Amino acid sequence: MIKLHDKYFKPFISAEEIDEAVGRLAEEIARDMGDEIPVFVGILNGSFMFTSDFVKKYPNPCEVTFIKLASYQGVKSSEDIQRLIGLTQDLTGRTVVILEDIIDSGKTLNEVHRIFKNERVKSLKVATLFFKPEAYKKDFKLHYVGIEIPDKFIVGYGLDYDGLGRDIPEVYQIKKTQHMTNLVLFGPPGAGKGTQADFLKKKYNLVHISTGDVFRFNIKNETALGMLAKSYMDKGELVPDQVTIDMLNAEVEKNADANGFIFDGFPRTTAQAEALDQLMHTKDSEITAMIALEVDDDILVKRLLERGKTSGRADDANEGVIRNRIREYYDKTAVLKDYYSGQNKYFGIDGVGSIEEITVRVSALINSF
Ligand code: IMP
Ligand code: MG
Repeated sequence: MIKLHDKYFKPFISAEEIDEAVGRLAEEIARDMGDEIPVFVGILNGSFMFTSDFVKKYPNPCEVTFIKLASYQGVKSSEDIQRLIGLTQDLTGRTVVILEDIIDSGKTLNEVHRIFKNERVKSLKVATLFFKPEAYKKDFKLHYVGIEIPDKFIVGYGLDYDGLGRDIPEVYQIKKTQHMTNLVLFGPPGAGKGTQADFLKKKYNLVHISTGDVFRFNIKNETALGMLAKSYMDKGELVPDQVTIDMLNAEVEKNADANGFIFDGFPRTTAQAEALDQLMHTKDSEITAMIALEVDDDILVKRLLERGKTSGRADDANEGVIRNRIREYYDKTAVLKDYYSGQNKYFGIDGVGSIEEITVRVSALINSF
């Protein structure tokens, strides 16, 4: 995923697919041209990359030139009349092929036709690499179309969003949802995970999805998924990952306008981490980071023994039990640390210090994404 100005874009068309489409156009056009030497006219700025790659693949002799359409400065009109810059060549009697990066509403193409009416060309053909059929409002024939795409904004391969993105060799599509910060939060018992989750959800408008809470909610309210989960638990079996994922999916869908999510208690295995990636992918989103609070064992033991004095939780009262729980945590999270490290998404945060000191560290990390 990439960010240009205020918007996020996801990979859409690979460099290979583009290359293949450009090659196909070059062959198709060459076949139709026969012995004719065409003049290819790229429409700047967007088609610079397409034109360059296209003529490299064009198998026969050809001429290449560029024109640019510019709005008249200082003239305000409802129909935005454009003028042309760069057409110095005499095109009388020539076969001209317009090379467009993208045809959307067809407004630009309309201007091109208007301007070329005065040139006494032999024939005028239009080739466009990308075409949005749902957006097209004119009826000029498009002689050659590379790839048809849905009516969504794209960038890359010459196309820009407010000046940025033209240099990218692939095409990216604008993201529809804005789940920007999706965290998987980890920490050994006593690390202060709950405290940090509360802080993060308020500061960044995130929704805290604790798998334990989600299970309890679904079982208590006897939802279909809750009943299904319970049927496994009653038999003493593990709840299948798909059931858990379906519950998480419901939580994510309930909170479509959140800035993101904090996943707590899930994933626990590589298979679950993959399933979560898949879920986020279906939401046009992704896991941003695994944040693990790191606290030295001896400090955890001290904190939990302290808590045990007042909480009355039996598992907080005995040092042996506490050390076992900590060891179990490291055993279980090791695979996830590897999984997210492999995607450069693992971030250990020093969890020793005051609550405020730790929130400062976590915020600094999140602000860096
Ligand atoms: P049309 O005049 O509506 O057909 O749009 C053509 C022009 O609008 C292109 O030359 C681009 O400059 C711009 N444009 C249309 N759709 C997109 C897009 O998805 N990404 C970037 N630019 C676009
Ligand atoms: Mg253009």
